[in-house]
Amino acid sequence: MEKKIRLLVVDDSAQTRENIRAIFNWEEGVDIIGEAGNGVEAIELVRELRPDVILMDINMPEMDGIKATKVITDEGLEGAIIIMSIQGEKEYIKKAMGAGARDYIVKPFGVNELIETIKRVYDIEQNRKKRYTAPTPAAKLQTKVISVFSTKGGVGKTTLAANLAVAIAGMKKKVALLDFDLQFGDVAICLNLYVKNTITELIKDIGNMEHEGDLIEEYLLSHYSGVKVMAAPLRPENAEYVKAEHVKKIIEILRGRYDFIIIDTAQGFDDTVITALDSSDTILYVSALDLPAIKNTKNGLEVMKTLNYSSEKVKIVVNKSNEGYGIKNTDFKVALNVDIWSIIPDDIASVTISVNNGHPLVSHRKTSNVAKRINKLASALVEGDKGRPSIFKVG
Ligand SMILES: Nc1ncnc2c1ncn2[C@@H]1O[C@H](COP(=O)(O)OP(=O)(O)O)[C@@H](O)[C@H]1O
Ligand SMILES: [Mg+2]
Repeated sequence: MEKKIRLLVVDDSAQTRENIRAIFNWEEGVDIIGEAGNGVEAIELVRELRPDVILMDINMPEMDGIKATKVITDEGLEGAIIIMSIQGEKEYIKKAMGAGARDYIVKPFGVNELIETIKRVYDIEQNRKKRYTAPTPAAKLQTKVISVFSTKGGVGKTTLAANLAVAIAGMKKKVALLDFDLQFGDVAICLNLYVKNTITELIKDIGNMEHEGDLIEEYLLSHYSGVKVMAAPLRPENAEYVKAEHVKKIIEILRGRYDFIIIDTAQGFDDTVITALDSSDTILYVSALDLPAIKNTKNGLEVMKTLNYSSEKVKIVVNKSNEGYGIKNTDFKVALNVDIWSIIPDDIASVTISVNNGHPLVSHRKTSNVAKRINKLASALVEGDKGRPSIFKVG
């Protein structure tokens, strides 16, 4: 026997719900598993019942159908949404489709029209899921995951992460660059990429990616250097939908498919950042040579200790180093009692020109000292330290 379509009906009118129920008393293929009278109830039921299809009214008290559609889609919950609207609500329909509805139906609708729409949407959804779960031949690579982290903004995380990714790609390695600075991520801008998809779109479908699939690649942007980029949400308010478990899953799916996964993190330690750091083989902890940065770095290193990260795993990078401002690299080393793994000089001209031109400095301003240092750092990560970490050590 064919599997029945599990339907959730959302409408504030009890009469409408009743009518729909009456239709499906006679229809074999569909089972109404629940009813909700507004958007809030609908979301709760979707979480609980995981319906195949959701029939959703637009105008409802408390939370309307468009808002509910958006929440359900953004949370990546199961259930293909069909919007029910009345004549003349074209603008609302557009909004609903934009919010993630798969189809719509205009009231009053006929029995056959309703049944056909539900079946069509269900079939499309099933096919989509099949595509997502199709296993791909396992060409497992030994992936190194590297997070670029800092407890302070503006120290050069993004600059380093993007250029490092391009530099490593230049060494014939497959590189994915993930922008996990979810609120303010600017990796795509930094690399002058047209943003077709972001992590927001990816997490809507990630629930369906049980096996690692080629599909995740469709959400990554291609940079001409060969680096594949996962962009941060376009709007800061969408950051909250990305949960630690998404971060974990994205890294898991990409592991084995790339030689290097480079992660640009948000500043500080929130759940998503800690998840990325936990999954990393190496953390490049970026600091600058000013007092606030040094103080923050000291505190951050304490936190890393409590997280049990080894000193092998956490490597200090001092960026924008300019001893002319009063603090020397050795002062930093003494104050924090750590080795500095790499020192990248202060060179605002090279960095700014390269960003404004849209060409990474490691490939287009190779002779600048910043590029030289980042390229050297990239080599060290590709070749491994080979027992000579001291090449970068100070003092
Ligand atoms: N080595 C450097 N020398 C001079 N300026 C730099 C250097 N690295 C980064 N910058 C500049 O510092 C600012 C912050 O860099 P960014 O990479 O966005 O930091 P974060 O991602 O840590 O917030 C940018 O304007 C960038 O151009
Ligand atoms: Mg940044």
